[in-house]
Amino acid sequence: MSGDNLKWWQKTVVYQIYPRSFKDTTGNGIGDLRGVFENLNYLEGLGVETIWFNPFFNSPQGDHGYDVSDFRSVDPVYGTMRDFDELLNEIHNRNMKIVLDLVLNHTSDEHPWFKESVSSRENSKRDWYIWRDGKKTSGRKPPNNWKAIPGGSAWRYFKNTDQWVYFHFLPFQPDLNYRTPEVKKEMFNTIRFWLEKGVDGFRLDMLHSIHEDAKLRNDEFCLKLLPSEKNVASLFRKHKYDLNLPETFDFAMELRKVMDEYEPERFLVGEVFGTVEELAKYYGPNNNGLHSVFLFEFTSTAPSFKPRKISRVISRIEKALPPPFTPTYVYGNHDRDRYISLINRNIQKAKLLATMQLTLRGIPFIYYGEEIGMSNVDFKLKESQDPIGQKFSFFPIPLISKLIGFSLTRDRCRTPMQWNSELNAGFSVDYQIKPWLKVPETYKKINVAKQEKNPSSVLNCYKRLLKTRKANRSLQEGKFEFLTQNGLKKKCLAYRRYYFNEQIFVFLNFYKKEILIKSPINDPNLLFSTLSNRVALDLETYNGNIKLTPLEGIIFK
Ligand code: GLC
Repeated sequence: MSGDNLKWWQKTVVYQIYPRSFKDTTGNGIGDLRGVFENLNYLEGLGVETIWFNPFFNSPQGDHGYDVSDFRSVDPVYGTMRDFDELLNEIHNRNMKIVLDLVLNHTSDEHPWFKESVSSRENSKRDWYIWRDGKKTSGRKPPNNWKAIPGGSAWRYFKNTDQWVYFHFLPFQPDLNYRTPEVKKEMFNTIRFWLEKGVDGFRLDMLHSIHEDAKLRNDEFCLKLLPSEKNVASLFRKHKYDLNLPETFDFAMELRKVMDEYEPERFLVGEVFGTVEELAKYYGPNNNGLHSVFLFEFTSTAPSFKPRKISRVISRIEKALPPPFTPTYVYGNHDRDRYISLINRNIQKAKLLATMQLTLRGIPFIYYGEEIGMSNVDFKLKESQDPIGQKFSFFPIPLISKLIGFSLTRDRCRTPMQWNSELNAGFSVDYQIKPWLKVPETYKKINVAKQEKNPSSVLNCYKRLLKTRKANRSLQEGKFEFLTQNGLKKKCLAYRRYYFNEQIFVFLNFYKKEILIKSPINDPNLLFSTLSNRVALDLETYNGNIKLTPLEGIIFK
């Protein structure tokens, strides 16, 4: 990798916006595209370079936009196509990039295609979805034993045609059938529609489940209730025939071909689950598949705060995806608990993890609000807006979710952006308006306006980090190597990034005690410390050693 000029997407920093929760400019309590437009100064000032938007296409909003009813539109809840065009232009004017969320796997059951498909067995769109007869002579048993991801059978029965339709996620999100050529053609043209508008790339929703076994064979038993990052088996099923099929890896290469029709280079990042070794297949044998994939294992590894475990996972990632392959480093998103809550809202720890995320080799993804340390908000399942929370609302207590380590409603991490100390954190144009999800009381302390004024805030730490990253090519483009000499391994997590003659060192102290470390170079120069008031390394004071205070992270060269 060193010596090459990397592509824009390999060195970028992505900021994820859940439009519903960013900023409401119309006063309906729901965020919108104009709300993003009006805050581009903030994002530019923060230093992020690419913005990924969760879906804002027409949708009944059953799954808040992941149930699309028109892929080439903007839902009036979020604005108009004109708002989108203006937003895209303004993002590009600022030399930033824009990535959309593409839900290829399924549509809403209110999509006109599904309405046609459901109407009769003979309809021309019948094969756009996966319909099958039920088992038993009565037909009232699903075609096979497959389970949907949130639980229950993956089949929904329709009386009018006496057949079942397949869905991988929720019953109102029937899966498209990619073995029908027209479906692929239509969706690839949808991709072209947005590319021609100038979007820079796509985040591909649930890409791993695009294809299902052609014979729909019964899934195999596995003694595993909940999925983990390492093993996709769940609910006592292996998910052998509905996830990560060879056809789906081929599909990734077909998608890449569509992207390659366009200049300048566009970007694809897949939401896929499995081990990093398995997911590496999505990049294609000749790097001709997806540009990158999310590596979710790190969402639990980083907040575990165990340096040995963390370095093991990084080594595995580096091994499975060596340059020129580009990994991703993600701490959270709209489906997961916020990482700051997983580290008990410890600000020093958050700064340390941010330092790691923004200096590893790969694409960092920052989920809106992480940069100010927004934490999870508790909701009663009965009040859940998230369909997953509604599905589990019969669970008596959130304690269950604590026990299983899963949050049963994703509302927890989707609350409105906390802009200032005014009512409702200044989320809506009229502060009196009740936002679609409640804002936690902590907003009075944790908000953008307040943190902007405080040099030692989490926000200013992210800003300084992003500046340091931008100013030093090794941090964007350099190779990665752990440093283990001189007993370093026992003391802290240490690595270097290097590009031609430049090398940059990152030392992260995961412990609550002070440490002294011999400098690997002469005359090291401090570029960044999680401590905002530290300006030098002061080697003379510590007998030629570098001192790291508890939970401090530094970058030097
Ligand atoms: C993905 C999205 C999630 C959505 C689901 C169904 O996992 O991240 O929010 O509910 O797909 O589209």
